Amino acid sequence: MLLPLAVAVVAILGGARCLASDTIAAGSAISGNRTVVSRGGNFELGFFRPSGSSSSHSYYVGIWYKKAVSQCTPVWVANRASPVTDPASCQLAVAVDGNLELADEAGKHVVWSTNVSSTSSSVVAVLLDTGNLVLRRENNDGEVLWQSSEHPSDTWLPGARLGLNKITGYAQALTSWKSSVDPAPGLFALGIDVNDTKQYNITWNGTMSFWTSGEWNGDVFTGIPEMISHHTYDFDFVSDANGSYITYSLQDPTVISRMVLDVSGQVRQMIWVPSDDEWTIIWTEPHQLCDVYAVCGAFGVCSEKSDTFCSCPVGFRPSSEMDWEVGDHSHGCRRNNPLQCELRSTNRSKVNGKDDDGDAFLLASGISLPRNSTSSPATQASSSRGCGLACLKSCNCTAYSYGSSGCVLWYGGLLNLQRLVDDTAGMDDLYIRLSAMDVPSSSSEGRRNRTIVFVSIAAAVSSILALSAIVLSMLVRMFRRRKQRRMAFIQAASEGGNLVAFEYSDVRRATDNFSEKLGGGSFGSVYKGKMPGAVGEVAVAVKKLEVTGGLLCVGDKQFRNEVRTIGVIQHVNLVRLRGFCSHGADRLLVYDHMPNGSLDKALFATRASSPALSWRARFQIALGAARGLLYLHEGCRDCIIHCDVKPENILLDGDMAPKVADFGMAKLLARDFSRVLTTVRGTIGYLAPEWISGVPITAKADVYSYGMVLLEIVSGKRNARSWTGEEEQRMSDYFPLVAARKVSGGEALVELLDERLNGDVDGRELDIACRVACWCVQDDEARRPTMEQVVQALEGVVAVDVPPIPTSLRALSESENAGFVMSSFNLMTSDSEDAGRVASS
Ligand SMILES: *[C@@H]1O[C@H](CO)[C@@H](O)[C@H](O)[C@H]1NC(C)=O
Ligand SMILES: *[C@@H]1O[C@H](CO)[C@@H](O)[C@H](O)[C@H]1NC(C)=O
Ligand SMILES: *[C@@H]1O[C@H](CO)[C@@H](O)[C@H](O)[C@H]1NC(C)=O
Ligand SMILES: *[C@@H]1O[C@H](CO)[C@@H](O)[C@H](O)[C@H]1NC(C)=O
Ligand SMILES: *[C@@H]1O[C@H](CO)[C@@H](O)[C@H](O)[C@H]1NC(C)=O
Ligand SMILES: *[C@@H]1O[C@H](CO)[C@@H](O)[C@H](O)[C@H]1NC(C)=O
Ligand SMILES: *[C@@H]1O[C@H](CO)[C@@H](O)[C@H](O)[C@H]1NC(C)=O
Ligand SMILES: *[C@@H]1O[C@H](CO)[C@@H](O)[C@H](O)[C@H]1NC(C)=O
Ligand SMILES: *[C@@H]1O[C@H](CO)[C@@H](O)[C@H](O)[C@H]1NC(C)=O
Repeated sequence: MLLPLAVAVVAILGGARCLASDTIAAGSAISGNRTVVSRGGNFELGFFRPSGSSSSHSYYVGIWYKKAVSQCTPVWVANRASPVTDPASCQLAVAVDGNLELADEAGKHVVWSTNVSSTSSSVVAVLLDTGNLVLRRENNDGEVLWQSSEHPSDTWLPGARLGLNKITGYAQALTSWKSSVDPAPGLFALGIDVNDTKQYNITWNGTMSFWTSGEWNGDVFTGIPEMISHHTYDFDFVSDANGSYITYSLQDPTVISRMVLDVSGQVRQMIWVPSDDEWTIIWTEPHQLCDVYAVCGAFGVCSEKSDTFCSCPVGFRPSSEMDWEVGDHSHGCRRNNPLQCELRSTNRSKVNGKDDDGDAFLLASGISLPRNSTSSPATQASSSRGCGLACLKSCNCTAYSYGSSGCVLWYGGLLNLQRLVDDTAGMDDLYIRLSAMDVPSSSSEGRRNRTIVFVSIAAAVSSILALSAIVLSMLVRMFRRRKQRRMAFIQAASEGGNLVAFEYSDVRRATDNFSEKLGGGSFGSVYKGKMPGAVGEVAVAVKKLEVTGGLLCVGDKQFRNEVRTIGVIQHVNLVRLRGFCSHGADRLLVYDHMPNGSLDKALFATRASSPALSWRARFQIALGAARGLLYLHEGCRDCIIHCDVKPENILLDGDMAPKVADFGMAKLLARDFSRVLTTVRGTIGYLAPEWISGVPITAKADVYSYGMVLLEIVSGKRNARSWTGEEEQRMSDYFPLVAARKVSGGEALVELLDERLNGDVDGRELDIACRVACWCVQDDEARRPTMEQVVQALEGVVAVDVPPIPTSLRALSESENAGFVMSSFNLMTSDSEDAGRVASS
């Protein structure tokens, strides 16, 4: 549950003692409020008590941050499951057999021991600055007998190994705390897959694995590709005959970071943000809390949308409100009243004279079918009612559904119930069995029937909230806490340079409920927003992916995967993707906001509104955009074809430096992409001929579009104006043709230049730009240069020959029919099969 920070708040007995040493030697036991502190002062070891704990008499020996981190945050606990009541009467000391031991009541009872078999008394325990407590021989080079990092609690620190010793068969695993106030081992564990030894799993109750990292491929675990975008960390996985281990380190050693298997079952990477005085989560798996196995326990209902996450269906209440409050949902929900059939089977007599009420079913509206619970189809039932009767035959049948997969019955505790986010159309209804006493009174008529009661609950939520005042106050507190955490989360994300999965509510708040629209791109609307950043607020642009006729049908998982690959791509001439949000059917991308807007506005603005861009600025924009595209084509791990290069997608930052936007859309949209692209007004003028002819799309399609843009940079006008409907254009006036004729004919090119510049141009640069552009728009993609050659030509590193007039332009100029251009492009709108061409390229 949402209490990670509550874990951090504990009461510490020890204060800063001047006597503090980093060593527990013979005769210097830790007791009461005495502690040891690592040499550099990073960590402290001693007795602590989790605050908020119901028992004020549960003390543990643990290690926590001493320096920099102001919230006491235990990273290791010795006697996790065996608290002591009075630290003053306990001793942590090196025993005669050489073990570090925690003994109760002046040595009468050993509460905890390192349990290593060595018979040496000259042994000391030293707390290192890495947070590792090491038991080693006192003299010589100090053979290590035992170390706490090999026996982690819920926290994995930088430098510590997590894996498997193949010789002893011992595997380290992180085990969650039972609750935010109880360090006893909980149900969740994160460790190496001992059968595979190349991947890590999170398991529930020792057996049920519900999340896997995927195998190590040399760089990353395949299931967490975003690992490489974590520039803050270096991960190192080593596997040989002796063992398989992963370690990590921080590139900036002053950053304080830890990875924790939270009480909720999620693994979380956290960073300490000194300016906020808080831990912030920068990465978490599984992404959705409701994907954690049995996260709300039996009959518990998980909801990503609610700030409390877990609730109980009507007729149930939390098994233990106290446990729920501290994040322990393992016991789930229990019935308000036992099933009548249970009472009858244990006690043949009537119960409160109500025996005849029997059991009933309640439609659990808005709740998904249980996953991973025991179920079986009952084929004989041919109606919902018959299905319910089949369930009533067995006392351990607890629910049924009747729908697309026939009649399905569930037995025992229902696990992984989830509140449905979107409309429930197509989902089979779930009917939960209840004692008729628990069926709301609105159904009393049905109850008199003494058979089955089918009730639809409209306002289930209110009855859940009415459960108890404790739960309510808890909601309020958690809500507040969560808000704070989220804000910090956003900030850390923008500082750390990692891709962030934003909450929808955050994005909505940041954009003031999508109130300021910056524009509508090919694949959705863009809104301006503000988010807290390292220094004050930073402006962001939020793109809501949409196509004409609705939202995109891109699945959540695919979206996340693709967004991660896009998020890794960073270049000075590419717009930086900050994060994303996947919420119901909404797919949002959060980018840096570019204050000077897009190139089309700078280039084609009406004359009065702003001065024309200088040639110098234009040439720099052309060069920068080319470099951005070159990076997409060749600088990334996988070649990315932009597919939609046009002035609208070249943005200008505060210094008028160009940044290419909207890349990666083909990956994101897969099948929808080509359909969208070829139907969007304002894109077709830039599309290469192969989009019509049907040959596979390559990076050269971007080169063509870039050439078209380059011509517009020169002229300051749209090449093809007819799609704007403003004026009819004669083919002989079609600017690319005019330019191609002049360039190939060796004529003076200054006539091509935007007249607003009054000929104020570097003639050599103009010559290069025009030649490059005409090479780029050749019909035959083999004749077009690569983006690398374009960049080199613009930089003046390589010379550019005189280009020929592209054949299609020549042919068109003979037909003298401007309409032909348009009608040939219109052919594309009926495409359906070339969607795959982009996706596969
Ligand atoms: C530590 O314990 C001693 C004896 O119990 C007590 O006198 C002292 O005040 C305590 N120090 C702190 C910092 O709590
Ligand atoms: C040490 O060994 C004892 C006895 O075998 C066992 O009860 C205890 O759990 C062990 N302690 C640890 C920390 O492994
Ligand atoms: C780890 O997860 C993978 C993938 O879900 C699964 O195949 C494997 O059996 C799991 N390993 C263990 C030890 O549960
Ligand atoms: C791991 O291997 C053992 C023995 O080979 C086998 O019994 C067990 O079922 C395997 N576990 C998983 C999760 O595959
Ligand atoms: C965990 O598994 C044990 C048996 O291995 C079982 O007795 C226990 O009930 C399980 N815990 C839960 C919460 O289901
Ligand atoms: C739970 O059930 C779903 C299908 O209902 C399945 O895809 C998933 O692998 C199961 N998870 C576990 C941990 O068994
Ligand atoms: C495995 O450990 C043995 C000694 O325990 C050592 O001699 C050997 O080199 C190690 N193997 C590898 C691959 O590290
Ligand atoms: C059966 O019910 C009677 C009251 O109706 C109660 O006194 C008795 O304890 C019950 N027996 C069992 C085994 O529950
Ligand atoms: C339910 O109870 C019946 C006996 O009434 C038993 O045969 C069956 O195995 C039980 N099913 C489950 C899933 O516990």
